[in-house]
Amino acid sequence: MSLMAPRVSSVVFALSLLVGIASAIDFYREMEFSYSGIDGPNNWGKLDPTFTPCSSGRIQSPINIQRNMTVHNKQLKPLARRYKPANATLVNKGFSVGVRFEEDAGQLWIDGKSYALKQVHWHLPSEHRIDGQQFAAELHMVHRAPDNSTAVVAVLYQEANAADPFICRLMGGLNKLGKENSEVPLGNMNINELSRRSRKYYRYVGSLTTPPCMEDVHWSILGKVMSISKEQIAAMDSPLNADCKRNARPCQPLNGREVDLYDELIC
Ligand SMILES: *[C@@H]1O[C@H](CO)[C@@H](O)[C@H](O)[C@H]1NC(C)=O
Ligand SMILES: *[C@@H]1O[C@H](CO)[C@@H](O)[C@H](O)[C@H]1NC(C)=O
Ligand SMILES: *[C@@H]1O[C@H](CO)[C@@H](O)[C@H](O)[C@H]1NC(C)=O
Repeated sequence: MSLMAPRVSSVVFALSLLVGIASAIDFYREMEFSYSGIDGPNNWGKLDPTFTPCSSGRIQSPINIQRNMTVHNKQLKPLARRYKPANATLVNKGFSVGVRFEEDAGQLWIDGKSYALKQVHWHLPSEHRIDGQQFAAELHMVHRAPDNSTAVVAVLYQEANAADPFICRLMGGLNKLGKENSEVPLGNMNINELSRRSRKYYRYVGSLTTPPCMEDVHWSILGKVMSISKEQIAAMDSPLNADCKRNARPCQPLNGREVDLYDELIC
């Protein structure tokens, strides 16, 4: 008996961890967390057994990318992505606003492995920082391979007069979007703007930035900072839960990790 109990509980734990991982990627929110107070980022690891990586993980995200510490890695290739129009739904998860793809929206390839685009969502302000600088917003494009490994492409935005063309096409939906768990169908969505070629990106291995903070996520943070208007920030902020305004997890320790740089302008 004394030998059995821990075995059973670790199987249950492993199963619940898998469900938690799938949920985070598929954009469900089964357990509560927030960005302030007792449910805030410093306590995520204690809120649920499946959230323990948030506190005990060693390769967590986001991070501050210190440019003079990045390693120009000549093995890295240009980001290979091919997206295609797909039926999509605008979703308010309370802790973030995003777009879920209901069908095949295309792929990202890393080291010959293909990751399908599942959803995109925004954080206000940015989670990743460059030389300590935090930006106005950050887009996460979440991709998953058939073995459930995850790759996220991140785009940083600075506030400017120029609006972001992709978010422009969501403004009607954002203005209709209600409180947590409300959805607005977008129909067939062309996402060409999102597959723009990138001359520069940072690559490191980290985690999801929301519970359960699952690790071994391949991050690619694009070097080109995009523009977002004040109106667009307000439209994305207003559907969020009161305790999830400013939905950026604080930067996590590098713990000796290397951040690689792909830059086609450096020979
Ligand atoms: C990188 O820059 C920071 C200041 O931004 C400085 O403190 C640090 O010593 C630099 N490190 C290297 C390896 O140059
Ligand atoms: C798009 O997906 C939604 C949700 O699955 C579905 O209800 C709708 O019929 C789909 N629309 C089209 C044009 O396929
Ligand atoms: C991937 O996750 C899904 C749940 O979303 C699960 O059904 C499937 O078995 C998992 N696949 C692998 C290879 O772990």
